[in-house]
Amino acid sequence: MSAHTGTDIELAISHLNRGELVAIPTETVYGLAANAFDADAVIKIYHAKNRPQFNPLIIHTDSLEKLESWGLHIPEKMRLLAQHFSPGPLTYIIPTSARIPDIVTAGTGAVAVRIPNHPITLELLSKLNYPLAAPSANPSGFISPTNAWHVNEQLGDKVAYILNGGPCEVGIESTIISFITDQPCILRFGGLAQEKIESVIGKVNAHTELSIENENQPLAPGMLVRHYAPEHKLMFGDVRKYLSYFNTQRVAILTYSSVYEEVPARQQIVLSPSRNLDEAAQRLFAAMREADKMDVDVILAEKFPDEGLGRAINDRLKRASEQ
Ligand code: TXA
Ligand code: MG
Repeated sequence: MSAHTGTDIELAISHLNRGELVAIPTETVYGLAANAFDADAVIKIYHAKNRPQFNPLIIHTDSLEKLESWGLHIPEKMRLLAQHFSPGPLTYIIPTSARIPDIVTAGTGAVAVRIPNHPITLELLSKLNYPLAAPSANPSGFISPTNAWHVNEQLGDKVAYILNGGPCEVGIESTIISFITDQPCILRFGGLAQEKIESVIGKVNAHTELSIENENQPLAPGMLVRHYAPEHKLMFGDVRKYLSYFNTQRVAILTYSSVYEEVPARQQIVLSPSRNLDEAAQRLFAAMREADKMDVDVILAEKFPDEGLGRAINDRLKRASEQ
């Protein structure tokens, strides 16, 4: 890997203090981080990712106390969830404060906050007196990176330093829950299952589909229908049915646990032979990248059970399949 990748936290801090971009590991995916209080540094994130500026960023820190010291009010149910799941793969959307630059919130009046659960990044955050604005470290619209190499491949020339924390343990982006609406509402399925959230604060709504009819829907603006796009065409759903339309020697397959006899074994990626949805989620994005490098005509992906992290997996595969 290139010379500007390593585990030097002090070096990462010195770059961040100077307003430069640093890729950071989290338990979900790697983030492309800048000092959230430095608007000029945050703009570099949008440029590096080619991200539209209407799409706000998550800020990352290591404690609720710091968020409060920056003028943010923590809703009671968020505090409850945080006791159970932060640090962890859960992002909260709450009313913003004067301390947070508009470029971070895209002028929405709301800010997304997360305490990520990765030892190196938690240590880094504990040494900073500002939050890190960090979207996933991929060009806008592409597959999120789950190891330092993925970051280097796509954004290596855009970052001052890649803090290497190994492969991501959760492997799929955080679940986003909004406290802007009357009732807490999930805006993105992700690394924390809806069932776990409901075990702490009771039933929650989920508004994760884009609907043009209802512009007032409290969506995460970045959840565009087409996202996580591989180069190859990807078809998501009934693989057995799709196989009858294609040359079975020329397809790549992403499956939960099944194997398709008519397709060459090297073109099949089984995400969890023991049918564990957490394991499948952890491997999903690397598998999508691997399938995309194969010399095939199309990638076929199975639908996963709609429970636990299966919902997040299905969400990502569906967006990857849109034209
Ligand atoms: O796991 C994760 O959440 C990773 C790691 C790096 O923390 N980050 C991540 O960021 O996935 P990004 O930017 O790729 O996705 C954040 C999503 C976007 O869809 C964005 O529109 C939404 O969160 N979002 C951010 N701030 C928001 C706000 N104030 N209101 C509504 N949605 C917001
Ligand atoms: Mg992203």
